Amino acid sequence: MDSAGRNGPPEETLDPADWSSVRALSHRIVDDAVGYIRDVRDRPAWREMPAEVRAFFRTPLPTASTALEDVYRDVADKVMPYPMGNIHPRFWAWYMGSGNFTGALGDFLAAVQGSNLGGGSHAAALLDGQVVDWCKEMLGFPASASGTLVSGGSMANLIGLTVARNVKAGVDVREHGVSAMPKPLRFYGSDQLHSCHRKAMESLGLGDRALRRIKTDGERRIDIGALAAAIGEDRESGLQPACIIATAGTVNTGAIDDLQGLADLAAREGLWLHVDGCIGALVAIAPENRHRVAGIERADSIALDPHKWLHAPFEAGCALVRDASAHRGAFAVTPEYLETAPRGLASGDWLYEYGLQTTRGFRALKIWMALKEHGVEKFGRLIDQNIAQGRYLTGLIAAHPHLELVAPTSINIVCFRYRRPDLENSRLKDINVEIMLRLQEEGLAVLSDTTIRGEHCLRVAITNHRTREADLDLLVGEIVRLGTAFAP
Ligand SMILES: Cc1ncc(COP(=O)(O)O)c(C=O)c1O
Repeated sequence: MDSAGRNGPPEETLDPADWSSVRALSHRIVDDAVGYIRDVRDRPAWREMPAEVRAFFRTPLPTASTALEDVYRDVADKVMPYPMGNIHPRFWAWYMGSGNFTGALGDFLAAVQGSNLGGGSHAAALLDGQVVDWCKEMLGFPASASGTLVSGGSMANLIGLTVARNVKAGVDVREHGVSAMPKPLRFYGSDQLHSCHRKAMESLGLGDRALRRIKTDGERRIDIGALAAAIGEDRESGLQPACIIATAGTVNTGAIDDLQGLADLAAREGLWLHVDGCIGALVAIAPENRHRVAGIERADSIALDPHKWLHAPFEAGCALVRDASAHRGAFAVTPEYLETAPRGLASGDWLYEYGLQTTRGFRALKIWMALKEHGVEKFGRLIDQNIAQGRYLTGLIAAHPHLELVAPTSINIVCFRYRRPDLENSRLKDINVEIMLRLQEEGLAVLSDTTIRGEHCLRVAITNHRTREADLDLLVGEIVRLGTAFAP
């Protein structure tokens, strides 16, 4: 019998037995975290993990307890020194933001409060809605539109395309499924579309072939004449043109489709206009460059990615839909165990009715805190800064006899390669890949590569508030050094 007079094993909890030691350790963890971000420039941009670190992650499931201090020591020794590297000032691979400390505090506090953003009447739910409203405001989208925070751009695109499919299906597709559609739907995007759209088409039961890739012009923007012709052809063949996916910032080169032209075409043809703005939608807040995304506010739906150019710690994407009832109509299901109550916790909006998740994390807080701290104008200036850095790097490459631009730079993505007149074309890919790998292995910088119209190239995407022009000077110097070393 225990002191409360109970029989059986003692009742347990995950709370610490001694809060004062947890407090002391927590202070140390925060101190370490501040130092970690403050000193990020002094560490390599990436480093290979030694064999013992790899082996450490194959240890079996722990059965008994370990002191939290020891658990933290493992994290400090085996995890923190080997990050992906995207918070480093010289990380420019693929496309991702570089985080911010306030956002990290936001994630911590969100976890401490522990609210479930499936909905309900509580402060986190109101804050979530406020962040969605701020996203609308940043893009000039109407206040009457709806939106939802999701894990990232891929999910945000899936939300927009799901609503598009349901609205254009010509049948209650939720009830009857895609096989009941009177005509097969066709979606359109450029040949530079991100791969997540393929996955979305597959998940929606439409199949990849229902997504026509339209050729792009010299600036890698969708060719609107070719798009109009494709829509006409499809109508004549008995298909149902349904949705244009415009890209504001393609993943390969950062090209921004002509959003006004596409909005006009969509209006003329009665098509849904979805904008994949994961890279470029937020250019709308950047004073020197916002003209590039004019027309984005005319979309029916938009995907944007606060974990890219708002530097929110992962994960944070956002889908916006002009017609709020169509948005809710695509996802809402009210089971008997989630009915709205007239008062109390269940009297708030059910946020899970705007997407696929039921339980949702409190990802809004990290975005909200950083926006409050810095203000949207600073985020806009940082986007302008990255675009100016893209231009600066483009200039360095254009001026160097052994470097060559492979695609025009639109915003902050620069595609180029090392090339000398004495090197055969067949060797260029090997040399450039080797340069990319050596830059990583030496911890100097992280870039990625891609192939554009058959030409392999290195790719620098500057979504990084820590990058300085001197980092780009260093990059160019190191690429030329490595190129000369491999092909003397
Ligand atoms: C144009 C574009 N769309 C969609 C995505 C997918 O976004 P996420 O990685 O946040 O899912 C990306 C990712 O870089 C992208 O560049």
